[in-house]
Amino acid sequence: MQHALVAIILLLAVVLAPVHAQQGERPDTPQHPWMNKALSPDQRAELVLAEMTLDEKISLVHGLSMPRGTAPDPTTAAVLARSNGGAGFAPGIARLGLPDLQLADAAVGVARGAARGRYSTPLPSTVALAATWNLPLGHEFGALVGRELRDQGYNASLGAGVNLMREPRNGRNFEYVGEDPILAGRMVAQVIKGTEDQHVIGNIKHFALNDQETGRQVASVVLNERVMRETDLLAFEIGVKEGRPDMVMCSYNRIDGIWACENPYLLTDLLKRTWGFEGWVISDWGATHSTVEAALAGLDQEMPGDAHFGAALKKAVESGEVPLARLDDMVRRILRAEFASGIIDDPPVTRVPDVFAGFDLAQRVAGQGSVLLKNADGLLPLSAATLKSIAVIGSHADLGVLSGGGSAKVDPPGGNAVPPAPGEMGAIWHPSAPLEAIRAKAPQARVEFDAGTDPVSAAALARTCDVAIVFVNQPTSEGRDVPSLALPDGQDALVAAVAAANPRTVVVLETGGPVAMPWIDRVGAALEAWYPGIRGGEAIAAILFGDVNPSGKLPMTFARSDADLPQPKLPGSDLTPQPVPPPPGAPAGARRRAQLPPFDITYPEGLKVGYKWFDAENKTPLFPFGHGLSYTTFAYSGLGVTGKTVTFTVRNTGGRAGAEIAQVYVALPASAGEPPRRLVAWERIPLEPGQSRTVSVAVDPLFLSVFDVQKDGWELVPGQYTYFVGSSSRALSLRASTEY
Ligand code: BGC
Repeated sequence: MQHALVAIILLLAVVLAPVHAQQGERPDTPQHPWMNKALSPDQRAELVLAEMTLDEKISLVHGLSMPRGTAPDPTTAAVLARSNGGAGFAPGIARLGLPDLQLADAAVGVARGAARGRYSTPLPSTVALAATWNLPLGHEFGALVGRELRDQGYNASLGAGVNLMREPRNGRNFEYVGEDPILAGRMVAQVIKGTEDQHVIGNIKHFALNDQETGRQVASVVLNERVMRETDLLAFEIGVKEGRPDMVMCSYNRIDGIWACENPYLLTDLLKRTWGFEGWVISDWGATHSTVEAALAGLDQEMPGDAHFGAALKKAVESGEVPLARLDDMVRRILRAEFASGIIDDPPVTRVPDVFAGFDLAQRVAGQGSVLLKNADGLLPLSAATLKSIAVIGSHADLGVLSGGGSAKVDPPGGNAVPPAPGEMGAIWHPSAPLEAIRAKAPQARVEFDAGTDPVSAAALARTCDVAIVFVNQPTSEGRDVPSLALPDGQDALVAAVAAANPRTVVVLETGGPVAMPWIDRVGAALEAWYPGIRGGEAIAAILFGDVNPSGKLPMTFARSDADLPQPKLPGSDLTPQPVPPPPGAPAGARRRAQLPPFDITYPEGLKVGYKWFDAENKTPLFPFGHGLSYTTFAYSGLGVTGKTVTFTVRNTGGRAGAEIAQVYVALPASAGEPPRRLVAWERIPLEPGQSRTVSVAVDPLFLSVFDVQKDGWELVPGQYTYFVGSSSRALSLRASTEY
């Protein structure tokens, strides 16, 4: 199956090679002084800027995105024809040697490939990457995305979302990196670096606090400054400073009543002045609401079109409402990014992607990112030698694995494994069938499949088999949240029926985030596989049969039910959409989609995002942040703290090689007024049976600090700091205190 798939992809790629070879506007000959690579990106940008006309400057600060065939004149049509078909396109300026900006969504692989017959690796969701806690793997992930963007002729990524998982029902959690700002920020930084290292402009999004989809275009998030800085904005601070993206995408929502894309505090005071961000701020698609306010607040480029930063901005500059210096700053930032990222000196050359490298990485991320939640009596790993019969049930496991929807969706090679009914959108399923992979692992066993649509028939099959593996799923997508943590479509009843028929039931979850599991006490084992990408079936089978020893740990808390969440009801979910009047000048009869009325989201948990809430409230989660089992066992000993370096020993006390993600948490002095504990460091430690390793991890002082609003800076509160080390936020066997 895999070989057939690869053959099809390669064939397609070769057949389409002439299409690939088509390039956008190629830079002019390199005799311009700014083509001197010995100059700094700032010097080079300055030299170009000095040559530019007002119209040229304006042309760089907005996109030119209109469907092909709708260009108002032949000149525009010719420019538009150079678009690579990505989500964004901003034409370059040939006389100055500036390339077209070709931007593609690329959170989990390059999006929108199918329309042009192009292949890109559907990677596991980034929440799975976060669950690996493996920063070098994050770099590889970003690099693969960067390479495949180049292979397709793109020079800018729209990936790397780091919105904090304050809302477990957020439809985009699969394309983010969990609930902890330090884990999320550090992981996203590696993804960005990996992409930028390929000479592709890297991005971080959505700045900021766009933590739910419901009402994302009308809602205002109201949180105090300290809370924002220590939570959502800390993830961005780390991502921007460590990852050094050339582009930051501002979000749809408002913050304290002010649109994120015209928010001077966010865009100018914080991002550009305090954090020293030198790249440009790009608006989310349609998130620009004004010309003068947005320009003065620090927005540098409108996407996807020019409603505010085209003719209107030119007029505002001519009238002095927007100083020319501000327009120059916008342009300088874009130019600087083009030089700094390398897209001018080393433009993309389209070519057939390395399919095998993509498959390999996808499987490694899925293997390391799947989290073994429960494994009673060592039910897993399964033994191919002794099992005679296996029931595989549910979730189209005979065809493929689920993926997330929306702009992050990557078209699967060969098409959707579960094509939707005509006229319906349907979710995307990648053609990597767990059933086939399980059969390959247990060639001697009778392996039978039941669709899981009828619990009675599924239970009947489970009863006749040595083991039952039930696959369940939770489709999620940009643009909508899930109504609750419950699995949809009666899947809870399915699991309950199968578990009642066969106590040796293993549940494999393909979800974008946490779900409730009312049946957990009745099943033998549970494996969270997230959306596991193009080699998901193989990765899952490798874990089930012990070829891969699971090492993933949850990057978020799994609550028992919605009632245990800080907001049991999703904000805005009880509001009714209102009709929206068409914009001025719209053709008669033009309609816009109804929208929710504006509302505030106040996040009552404040500083206590995720596990911090459960710890502070003394609530027992279904599975805590940082939890994840292995087929071996680990023992911790010998914690020592010297200055801000923590030393401890981990030993593999079981019979198999495995990797432990050892986690370091800190309780700050009581006077700091912080949640009980915060994650400050971790180490992924691979160990052979019986082997032990002593590791020393340096804790970044920023991660020990609190944000002092009065002083407008980070402060280390004097007092006693207690370090906790262990295998999850709720399994911390070592403890040592120190004074700072
Ligand atoms: C999404 C962005 C995406 C953009 C372009 C927006 O709807 O929020 O994440 O990059 O579309 O596709």
